[in-house]
Amino acid sequence: MTETVEITPGIHWIGVNDRTTDLFEGMWPISGEGVSYNSYLIKDEKTALIDLAKAIKGDDLLRRIHSLADPSAVDYIVLNHMEPDHTGVLKQFERIAPRATLVCTEKARELLKSFYGITERIRVVHDGETIPLGTHALTFYETPLVHWPETMMTWVTPGQVLFSCDGFGGFGALDGAIFDDEYESVEFYEREAERYFGNIVAKYARMVLRAIDKLAALPIRVVAPSHGLIWRKRPQRIIDLYKLWSGYAVDRPKPEITLLYATMYGATETMMNAVARGIAGAGVPLKVFDIAHTHISYILPALYAGRGVMVGAPTYEGQLLPIMSAALAVVDAKHITGRKAAYFGSYGWSGGGQAGFKKLVDPLQWEILDNLAFPGNPTAGTLEEGEAFGVKFAQAIKNSGKETSNG
Ligand code: FEO
Repeated sequence: MTETVEITPGIHWIGVNDRTTDLFEGMWPISGEGVSYNSYLIKDEKTALIDLAKAIKGDDLLRRIHSLADPSAVDYIVLNHMEPDHTGVLKQFERIAPRATLVCTEKARELLKSFYGITERIRVVHDGETIPLGTHALTFYETPLVHWPETMMTWVTPGQVLFSCDGFGGFGALDGAIFDDEYESVEFYEREAERYFGNIVAKYARMVLRAIDKLAALPIRVVAPSHGLIWRKRPQRIIDLYKLWSGYAVDRPKPEITLLYATMYGATETMMNAVARGIAGAGVPLKVFDIAHTHISYILPALYAGRGVMVGAPTYEGQLLPIMSAALAVVDAKHITGRKAAYFGSYGWSGGGQAGFKKLVDPLQWEILDNLAFPGNPTAGTLEEGEAFGVKFAQAIKNSGKETSNG
């Protein structure tokens, strides 16, 4: 069995799947989906590795390299990005590939020192610089903040393969096949690419758009990211999707509503159903998430894409229910700004949820269009009010043609 795949003559995928890590970056669930660390090896007069893998995958990666080349003869290790899911095996490789020069940006040089104590055999490259390997040549494009400030992408000819690192990447381990055209449907990988974008890259969506512009003139035949599918049949497809998602995040969210709710004993959930009926009845696309049962990882793509956010959560000890505050803290960290919002929720003996909600979203410049706080369980009357509240909010979102901004 071969564990590597030749992408174009001399350019090999030597990636590894990770199906054991539960939380990517220690917080994004991938227990069910997995993730791949796509490394590449180019065999020419010189041998180059493009990106590596997380530390736990060192043995697997090394075995793949061994099947193609002598690791001690590797000339270059290109480090497009310093995050340890790409570089965790570096210390191991320092011994295994002692001749190799590490190729990276100036900013990555600092991180090489702070993460791994490596200060030697480093070649800093700048935008547009080329390293010949023989018949192949590598050209580097700095793409800062896609995903960290030091990130770059590497272009190789012949083959016209773009090693795009986190950009155009996605969650989802590869099920045997690595190319887009080898799957009957790529729906899973596209969904997981959107989640990856929303969780990892979207905060820097402006920089994603800048990178796409910078690379626009390249005659790309294969997009080979560090995570997820390799796009050789429709390389433009994943670039277009990233462009679309970035556009939503930056300044063109869709007239859609994300409804986040949490409930203690069902009062707020009962109201949620009335509000949702109102929104749906007004014909505005709606996604409903019970945040107690859905990790924020799965909610972020909808929040980036949609213009309206309806939040339902009860008052808890004079505050917004803490589980909702925690979800909104992630939204704050991800800087999803400029949304139109409304709040509803039950309270017992005093309010507080509504004020707590406002306090959390004011710094995000969310415009709160409406509120509906109600005591105890909703009555038939308050449910009717809730449905009308949903209709009114939906109509406001539908009519809000003006662009919001997420700066
Ligand atoms: Fe794939 Fe920013 O790490």
